[in-house]
Amino acid sequence: MRLVLLGAPGSGKGTQAARLKEHLQVPHISTGDLLRAEVAAGSKLGLEAKEVMARGELVSDAILLGMLEDRVSRADTANGFILDGYPRNLTQADALDALLKRIGQPMDYAVQLDVPTELLVERIAGRAAAEGRADDNPESVRKRLEVYNTQTAPVIEFYRQHGQLTVVDGVGALDEVFNRVVSALAPTADVG
Ligand code: AP5
Repeated sequence: MRLVLLGAPGSGKGTQAARLKEHLQVPHISTGDLLRAEVAAGSKLGLEAKEVMARGELVSDAILLGMLEDRVSRADTANGFILDGYPRNLTQADALDALLKRIGQPMDYAVQLDVPTELLVERIAGRAAAEGRADDNPESVRKRLEVYNTQTAPVIEFYRQHGQLTVVDGVGALDEVFNRVVSALAPTADVG
């Protein structure tokens, strides 16, 4: 199964993807995690991305597409994947669509985790206190939410128009949200 998780910063994409990965037995591909690994490794790409990420802006489409093509072409994606953090704008949505058509593996589901802004801010503040992620400071969070509303929200419409979108209430205990996502996938959840 090929699934993309959509939602604002703090909506629970990473949290739910980690659980869905076990349930569906397909890899979790987080472009944020891939970028943070490059930053931690001090690679050329990581050095380019570091400041952009800290400001809460989007890293260039060219870098992201190269990274995604590389990751999706690995053998462990043969039965699908859970994509988290990509696509982030319509250019990326078109590029992903073209990539999946080229490899003959169309997206099965786009699931949007819907969470009100006040709760997003509260969750990210909680993570900032617990983990100190570089872009979880109030100024970057404001920017990330603005980028989401202006650049990423149209991607939701893109999947709606393609008939692939399911909106899931992302408010509640982790298990409750997980069960809602699994129910949304139910008709084909056991198909590879
Ligand atoms: P990325 O890592 O993708 O960050 P994000 O989209 O801002 O998402 P978050 O990790 O903040 O939120 P999430 O929805 O995954 O929620 P989570 O499960 O962590 O991207 C970071 C940066 O990388 C971008 O700003 C950009 O610069 C760059 N980047 C990445 N992809 C890119 C792309 N495609 N193009 C260009 N640039 C790109 O949960 C958040 C918190 O809430 C956690 O503490 C969690 O424990 C808690 N929580 C989750 N669910 C619940 C719940 N149900 N109840 C209570 N708490 C909960």
